[in-house]
Amino acid sequence: MTDSGQVFHINSKKITPVRGPVSLPAAAEKRAEQLIAQYPQSRSAVMPLLYIAQEHFGLITQEGIEWVAAKLSLPPVQVWEVATFYTMYYKKAVGKYHIQVCRTLPCALRGAKRISEHLHEKLGLSPGQVSKDGLWSFEEVECLGSCGTAPMCQINDVYFENLTEQKLDALLARIEKELPDLRLSAVRDELGAGLSGCPKSEVI
Ligand code: FES
Repeated sequence: MTDSGQVFHINSKKITPVRGPVSLPAAAEKRAEQLIAQYPQSRSAVMPLLYIAQEHFGLITQEGIEWVAAKLSLPPVQVWEVATFYTMYYKKAVGKYHIQVCRTLPCALRGAKRISEHLHEKLGLSPGQVSKDGLWSFEEVECLGSCGTAPMCQINDVYFENLTEQKLDALLARIEKELPDLRLSAVRDELGAGLSGCPKSEVI
């Protein structure tokens, strides 16, 4: 959301500058500086900085775009181009747990449609919808690069693979009970750590 409560939509053709420079909490600013310092060219940090902005605002907002652009001395439109290319950057509001089911051919051949249909039945959501309690949202996306362990889904920033309807049920039940932090900042050093005792490729 912007300060005025307006969502920064994917179809926006125009980026209107927000009032004054955008700053994030000190920890996010520090992490951004650390990331920028890792690259010979600061612009290479655009994707990790978009993750930081997304975690702070909950989705990719105009403020987030402008914060990343200012940090990297890039025109906001170049940051927006990156954000709109990748499905892991949310251009509209999502649930606390955002489930992205891969529907590309290898996953499709191994039952991705069944997984999507099961989610639809279980959560009462169609792709693109958010549950009334704000806990879940669900969408279908293209290949997430984990074809060898199809079918799979990404929940927030963590992959869950070799899915079946039963594994999915168990996974959703655990998430509902444990409310793990599945954001990149919580899991980047140890994938899956946000869901205690849950190895990346096995969900039960
Ligand atoms: S086809 Fe699903 S991860 Fe590649």
